[in-house]
Amino acid sequence: MAETARGVGYAELATLKLLAVEGALDRERKVSCADLADSLDASNQTASRRLQRLEEAGLVERDIVSDGQLVSITGTGEQRLQREYADYRRIFEGASGVDLTGVVTSGMGEGRHYITLPGYMEQFIDKLGYEPFAGTLNVDLVGESVRRRARLGAVEPVTIEGWEDDERTYGPAYCYPASVVAGDGEYEPAHVVAPERTHHGEDQLEIIAPEKLREVLGLADGDEVTIHVEE
Ligand code: CDP
Repeated sequence: MAETARGVGYAELATLKLLAVEGALDRERKVSCADLADSLDASNQTASRRLQRLEEAGLVERDIVSDGQLVSITGTGEQRLQREYADYRRIFEGASGVDLTGVVTSGMGEGRHYITLPGYMEQFIDKLGYEPFAGTLNVDLVGESVRRRARLGAVEPVTIEGWEDDERTYGPAYCYPASVVAGDGEYEPAHVVAPERTHHGEDQLEIIAPEKLREVLGLADGDEVTIHVEE
């Protein structure tokens, strides 16, 4: 079986896609190996082996029940499909990048706290090439963009490593290169920063940039912005 560069073979990828078509992205789906085998035009044994490989690669989770198994696609599995999707969008639409639209909101001042911790700040300067303004611009995604956010899963982020001090450990953060568009203005460099690799379910973005975006773009709470993330 040919292995793709990303861990599982194309046969497993086709199985993953089929599971997604049947709804396993949003919830657990009951799957019988016989039905799956039918859809894949393969033997029961082959279908079962593909599911097992997908599980071993961390792309699906499974619960065996009396009359079959409950299968759901993990965040990593969704990212894998998003990468395929990004390839097809490039092929058929010539599109690159992801546009996410939302409105500016205020948080509770947490962004400032985290961004300025030396364990993160030193890596931002080193890996992003700028010293971020002390805070994050919060953007509540609207409409289609809530779902589209999962497309970030196809983008290779800049990884900020986790670290620890005497009291606690701080998790890794992932930074996606972006520009921020508001009215006639556009600002870059900026990054979407997230505590986990992106998959669906999140409807807010946090943006960092070398300057205070509210000032340079004249933004206030409720204003609409579009975040363009490069693939
Ligand atoms: O209070 P909140 O959590 O929203 O803010 P913060 O992360 O502590 O950031 C301080 C302020 O700067 C907030 O009003 C952010 O919206 C804003 N900010 C900005 O305009 N541009 C940035 N690059 C980062 C933060």
